[in-house]
Amino acid sequence: MNEKWNALEERCKACKACPLWETRTNVVFGDGNPDTDLMFIGEGPGQQEDLTGRAFVGRAGQLLDKFLAAVDLDRSMVYIGNMVKCRPPQNRDPKPEETESCIGFLREQVRIIRPKIIVCLGRIAACRLIDPGFKVTRQHGEWIEKGGIRFMGTFHPAALLRNPGQKPAAFEDFLKIRAAVDELQAEKA
Ligand code: URA
Repeated sequence: MNEKWNALEERCKACKACPLWETRTNVVFGDGNPDTDLMFIGEGPGQQEDLTGRAFVGRAGQLLDKFLAAVDLDRSMVYIGNMVKCRPPQNRDPKPEETESCIGFLREQVRIIRPKIIVCLGRIAACRLIDPGFKVTRQHGEWIEKGGIRFMGTFHPAALLRNPGQKPAAFEDFLKIRAAVDELQAEKA
């Protein structure tokens, strides 16, 4: 796994397949532990991520860490990736063609990690990976099985910073994620 993973990371860091490479400081390959059953997928790096090369280290990332901690998880137990690995200027949504040119890296990450659970953080990931019409406010917290993987869409932590009233609903989703992790652990025991 390590060799393949490192080779993929190297390829990703050298990527110039879409114009986002021209304005990036760092490629943000992902963060956490690739030896896991649980993957979170966000949208794309923000300013802090671009500067540090690490996923979800800005304010949204700090909130994500709090939600993980609230259900006894941390970054050593999960892998956190993004739909696009380079920061879209001014934090705009990634364009569909940028997502398409980058998604091969995410597919490879999923192929190597072989997660049992994928949680989409926000609309961009949920619409691309679960259902193009996905509505986070209506469908968050629902499990959808695809190809042997359980998918869930939940609120993007940046959206929760803008709308803190949605935090209790997001917490319910994290409790479901924790319960699913517990089920997997019970199956393995
Ligand atoms: N928002 C994202 O979607 N991903 C990050 O890595 C940081 C903020």
